Amino acid sequence: MKTELFDESGTSRGFYSSLNRVNNLTGKEWVFWTRSVITKVYPPNLQHKLRSTHGGQKPPDLCADIIRIFTKEGQKILDPLMGVGGVLIGAARCGRSATGIELNKQWIDIYKEVCRREQIKEMETHCGDASRVVKTLTGTPFDMIFTDIPYWKMDKARRSKGVYKKVGEKARKDYKKTKLAAFNDEIYETKDDWLKKMAGIFKSASDLLCPGGYLATFVGDMYFDNEYHCLSAELANELIKIDGLVWKANIIWYDVSKKLHLYGYQYTYIPSMIHQNIIVFRKEEP
Ligand SMILES: C[S@@+](CC[C@H](N)C(=O)[O-])C[C@H]1O[C@@H](n2cnc3c(N)ncnc32)[C@H](O)[C@@H]1O
Repeated sequence: MKTELFDESGTSRGFYSSLNRVNNLTGKEWVFWTRSVITKVYPPNLQHKLRSTHGGQKPPDLCADIIRIFTKEGQKILDPLMGVGGVLIGAARCGRSATGIELNKQWIDIYKEVCRREQIKEMETHCGDASRVVKTLTGTPFDMIFTDIPYWKMDKARRSKGVYKKVGEKARKDYKKTKLAAFNDEIYETKDDWLKKMAGIFKSASDLLCPGGYLATFVGDMYFDNEYHCLSAELANELIKIDGLVWKANIIWYDVSKKLHLYGYQYTYIPSMIHQNIIVFRKEEP
């Protein structure tokens, strides 16, 4: 059966089919959101300035758009690496519930303060290492895992800005742990350590995902030390080893807030990373 739906202004959203097992989108909306590049501009709303103290925060309305593609209203989402809660706030804004885990209490406190100021429903949060906390969660399985991973060498990559003496010159090797390291309490020294730790968290989280549910994560690729690192593909290659997970999509979010830079000018090509990948997997039904 198909039912025509209307938005708040009375404009038709298209027809919703009662056979839709995945989400509450109409056929027209479903087709729109199959696009693999998101160019929509998300305003700096919902205490953006306060959330920006984190540095890796994502627009809650972008998170809500992604959640609407992969879940139905009332369903449950797990974000094991929640930061200041882009996913949790997004879930609240589209009528889903969520559970968040974060290593650093200061980010959970900011999330709670944003909820208080914006009168947003506060979701369940846990402070601790996700690889341990996920195993303690009980109750019904989650309908979606949606997160945003801490970046490999984020502290070092940030520190390299302004450290180049000449354009194109190699980054210094003697980085000190700066306050930016607070962004990510754990410093993953090698890419293998980082991939192993992330894959472990996703493995435990996927045990809590219901069959047919989707697992999605933001992951930025990096240009670091004269080399491009396609971290999205490298992480995806680890996640497809997890039993039942099948890679379904790489959605590119074009982040209009990112500035272009001049790092390699007249010397070597260095890309300005103005996109993030959202890699999406489905836990196939047995
Ligand atoms: C990219 S940020 C998430 C940002 C989030 N999407 C937001 O909108 O604020 C990743 C977060 O993972 C946290 N983190 C890193 N390792 C963790 C671990 N082992 N367990 C739990 N949280 C961790 C970091 O402290 C960081 O806040």
